[in-house]
Amino acid sequence: MKNIPQHVAIIMDGNGRWAKKQGFATRVRGHELGVEALRRASTGAAELGIRFLTVYAFSEENWQRPKAEVDALMNILMTSLSKELPVLQENGIRLHAIGNLDALPSKARKQLDATREATAGNTRMVLTLALSYGSRQELTSAVRVLAEKAVRGELQAQSISERDVAQALWTHDLPDPELVIRTSGEQRISNFLLWQISYAELVFLPVLWPDFSKEDLVSALSTFAGRERRLGKTSEQLHA
Ligand code: FPP
Repeated sequence: MKNIPQHVAIIMDGNGRWAKKQGFATRVRGHELGVEALRRASTGAAELGIRFLTVYAFSEENWQRPKAEVDALMNILMTSLSKELPVLQENGIRLHAIGNLDALPSKARKQLDATREATAGNTRMVLTLALSYGSRQELTSAVRVLAEKAVRGELQAQSISERDVAQALWTHDLPDPELVIRTSGEQRISNFLLWQISYAELVFLPVLWPDFSKEDLVSALSTFAGRERRLGKTSEQLHA
């Protein structure tokens, strides 16, 4: 494929609806099958030459869900991190995470740190899990970091640049995504990477996340390849 984006971000949506549609009594089965879809997406992305894949696995707002569902998601996170380690290693995928990670249960946090450490040497693709993540919270924390620097005299308020802001975000070591995919037919950003996706292309797919396949990824990539990314310029300037 030509014109493969360096960084793709995915809002994995529709697990609950999938479980309901399939007649399962709880939404949890949708999340369990969501892990398999995430495995297909990650290995598929690595095979296609994508260097960074960032997925919205648990939002700051998701803490408000019923305790049983939150507990189930945290358990799924923990078990998947150890179960999927061989897949990450075989595919050269380095695991990374962004978000308010201190809010995670300590067992999940430890498992996350262990998986990050175990995959630190992998160089084919970086898979970033956004966990307990909210973009407004991230921006608020960046403002605090910059304000503290200014108070300490390490930074002049007047000289704060876009680069300083980007450096203070949890994503400081990731390039901006060029493509955002959201599944399930919903067309919203839901507090995901608001600063980082300023110039990204948005692709909304009707498929519910547990049904997501490599073909769906390829379809989003070909939509992306067909878009003219003018980045504020005119079409004539691009083709001159
Ligand atoms: C959105 O579907 C999905 C989530 C809130 C969780 C995404 C989690 C996974 C794909 C599994 C991996 C999980 C972790 C924590 C690594 P929804 O529940 O909002 O579905 P609905 O919109 O149909 O109700």
